Amino acid sequence: MSQQPGTPPRLGHEELVAAQLETLATAHRSYGLAARVLFFGLDLVYGRERSLSKFKVLEIVARVPYQAWEQVAYIAVTHVYEHQTMARRIHDRVVEARAQQDNEQYHLLILGELIEREGIDEGRLRFYWLPQALAFAYFQLSWLLFVIRPSWSYRLNADFEDHAEHEYMTFVSEHPEWETTPFVSEVATDYGQFDALADMFRQIGHDERVHKQESLERLSEPRFR
Ligand SMILES: [Fe+2]
Ligand SMILES: [Fe+2]
Repeated sequence: MSQQPGTPPRLGHEELVAAQLETLATAHRSYGLAARVLFFGLDLVYGRERSLSKFKVLEIVARVPYQAWEQVAYIAVTHVYEHQTMARRIHDRVVEARAQQDNEQYHLLILGELIEREGIDEGRLRFYWLPQALAFAYFQLSWLLFVIRPSWSYRLNADFEDHAEHEYMTFVSEHPEWETTPFVSEVATDYGQFDALADMFRQIGHDERVHKQESLERLSEPRFR
């Protein structure tokens, strides 16, 4: 399916089920140190069990590398705007990073809606202030790695997205009742319509896979080629 750069394709039910099986049959990436520390810390604070609230925390952090890359790319355009071809290529990266952020933002909004609808009581410190602080620190790290060596930042993000992909697809297997739970959302018109909650979560899992692949494609490229 053709698509805008940074916007993962919308899949139908059969494709989503196939994607889930594929993810579950695929080993995790071999995570780097920063990613391992992050996942360990998240398990420690939010528990190893998958929950809507823990995914919301993941999504608060997930947008941040794309914001960092967008910011660096905008600064780069300021420096090279006289070289039209290069400036255009960097601008394409800005467009991609913006679409990736929007995609992560929909994930966050959907999780927020589900948590509110289910009346889940979240502690302010653990589920608001701590994720804000984590997102701030993760932004600095992604930004710094990107400025020093972009491949380091892309690798960290590929690890993060790989982890998210596996977690979402496993989450769906843990909730067979979602196969018949309708997906109702304020953002469905923008994000996508799905017959059941299970397919919506499979779609998010697949989005994370596409984000991972995009970062892996960038890994071997010189900066803003
Ligand atoms: Fe996400
Ligand atoms: Fe993602």
